[in-house]
Amino acid sequence: MPEFQGSISSKLPKVGTTIFSIMTGLANEHQALNMAQGFPDFACSPKLIELVNKNMNKGLNQYAMMPGVPLLREKIAEKTETLYSAVYHPETEVTVIPGATLGIYAAISAVVKEGDEVIILEPAYDSYLPAVELNGGRPVFAELKFPNYQVDWDEVRKLITFKTRMIIINTPQNPSGMAFSALDMEKLQKLTENSDIIVLSDEVYEHILFDGLEHQSVARFPKLAERSFIISSFGKTYHNTGWKMGYCLAPENLMREFRKIFQYMVFSVNTPIQYALAEFMEDMDEYLHLNAFYQAKRDLFQKSLKGSKWKILPCQGSYFQMLGYEKITHESDQEYARRLVRENKIAAIPPSSFYRKANDHHVLRFCFAKENDTLKQAAEILQEI
Ligand SMILES: Cc1ncc(COP(=O)(O)O)c(C=O)c1O
Repeated sequence: MPEFQGSISSKLPKVGTTIFSIMTGLANEHQALNMAQGFPDFACSPKLIELVNKNMNKGLNQYAMMPGVPLLREKIAEKTETLYSAVYHPETEVTVIPGATLGIYAAISAVVKEGDEVIILEPAYDSYLPAVELNGGRPVFAELKFPNYQVDWDEVRKLITFKTRMIIINTPQNPSGMAFSALDMEKLQKLTENSDIIVLSDEVYEHILFDGLEHQSVARFPKLAERSFIISSFGKTYHNTGWKMGYCLAPENLMREFRKIFQYMVFSVNTPIQYALAEFMEDMDEYLHLNAFYQAKRDLFQKSLKGSKWKILPCQGSYFQMLGYEKITHESDQEYARRLVRENKIAAIPPSSFYRKANDHHVLRFCFAKENDTLKQAAEILQEI
């Protein structure tokens, strides 16, 4: 195709291919074990696939209602009330979304205007920043403190100005595996009290917490919940990231603005999958067992690395393990991640990609949402280094 000859002024001049595509591309090229991108290498429940088929065969194949199939919204509201004692009205406060990424974009677009400041905690999932910038917002960064990636709330407080429109949080956190404590949430609640600040809480790993920790959803904190969008992802919970399904919760006045944007981005989401998820959600164990399921994987991976040169950083939740390589090389994380794929046939993510200024702590992020055999194979490779 001959290229467009007119001028294109990029709206995201600094954005290139994401690190996930780069590392997955390299993993394929070098036939390496892909521990980079955050997706499971095991199948989702066959029962869930049957339910989707059942609903397709039933003829439920046309547009769903804009905010989602009512039955699914009811199930989501029920779950949220049971787990976090928060009441969201299915009609006005719950919207089914095609994956968390779109929900994040729609929530930011709904409230962030030209010149508004948005506080982002780094290292941060890579979709927040472009979404803020495309809406004319000004990102303001606070750094989670290495190596535990704790939030310095005093630092966050100092960043707040009369222009602060939003604070974006993510717990359990990608890439660090840190999870917010109840005290973190209380501090955030105090910080935002009597302000116009809206919180965007990315909770896609809400069912993946370890060592008895409980997920501190903003929904548990009424004064926070009333100013928050919560984003969750079925893909992370039910091992089917490729289906791109999730949901957003917010009080009615915020959700009204969210839906104004959402309806022109996508209008509505896959109908038969929504019916299937509604039925599947009846079995609470399908998400409640995840903590133990992934803890066993984290423990297996960590145990298999004992005695190696890799430094195992704390991992409280999510399916990511950060490993320090200080004893191995002084290369940057970007250089070392690329060399690992080429020479050792294992792919990981260099976390400097999650920082605007490419901060490099000489760690790499490994995804342990993998079959136990894959984890053992990965550990063997890493042990040899
Ligand atoms: C923190 C975080 N937020 C959002 C997403 C996107 O989720 P989804 O695939 O549902 O769009 C991811 C996926 O890796 C993530 O790690």
